[in-house]
Amino acid sequence: MRINKYLADCGIASRRKCEELILQGKVKVNGKLIKELGIDVKPTDIVSFENRVVKPVSNKVYYKLHKPKGYVTTVNDEKGRKTVLNLMRNVHERVYPIGRLDYDTEGLLIMTNDGDITNILTHPKSLVEKIYIATIDGPISAEDIKTLSSGVDIGGYITKPCKAILIETNDKASKVEIIITEGKNHQVKKMFEAIGKNVIFLKRTTIGKIKLGGLARGEYKKLTTKEISYLKSLQK
Ligand code: URA
Repeated sequence: MRINKYLADCGIASRRKCEELILQGKVKVNGKLIKELGIDVKPTDIVSFENRVVKPVSNKVYYKLHKPKGYVTTVNDEKGRKTVLNLMRNVHERVYPIGRLDYDTEGLLIMTNDGDITNILTHPKSLVEKIYIATIDGPISAEDIKTLSSGVDIGGYITKPCKAILIETNDKASKVEIIITEGKNHQVKKMFEAIGKNVIFLKRTTIGKIKLGGLARGEYKKLTTKEISYLKSLQK
């Protein structure tokens, strides 16, 4: 099995993130530091990450978390800021977030140790819709909404057509629901920036059929069997 899949199966991170970790020199196979991505590992090989032996997880777990502002979604933060893992207090499995939310963004994050699901949801070709509510400075016009939904240039990349729905607008602030399948870095903020608007607050409420619901900020709970079956159905 490819080393990045093996590490993802160990609940380290998504396959793509695991490739970065390999290139950063954090992975050893049979005691030897590896820096190539193409390596295959056998069940008898001893793989370690950050000098700890890791094994594929047999108990896959799935949670939804309401990320508050002021937390990073990386597992370690070089600036020493709080990470979303600090919120998963009574979870004994090594889980990590699927995808990212900015430090100042709040809302739904799925936390898991299932590398396959992570791979599906974060794959660039994923068609899973993510819903965000953006609060922006000042008013916004119907024309702006149309421009957003037809695709905008966010620094050399034109976003795919998406759904943008005006919730309310007045001279001080406006609220817009944005439904996208892509997940470029800071995508929603950049989309508004492209039309000259500044996002002052951003919240993700939904990923596919998984909803934040009434979960309070900072709280997490296990996904239901139905929600897990939905995630697994995306693999087919
Ligand atoms: N888009 C953003 O700009 N920020 C996020 O946190 C998520 C999507």
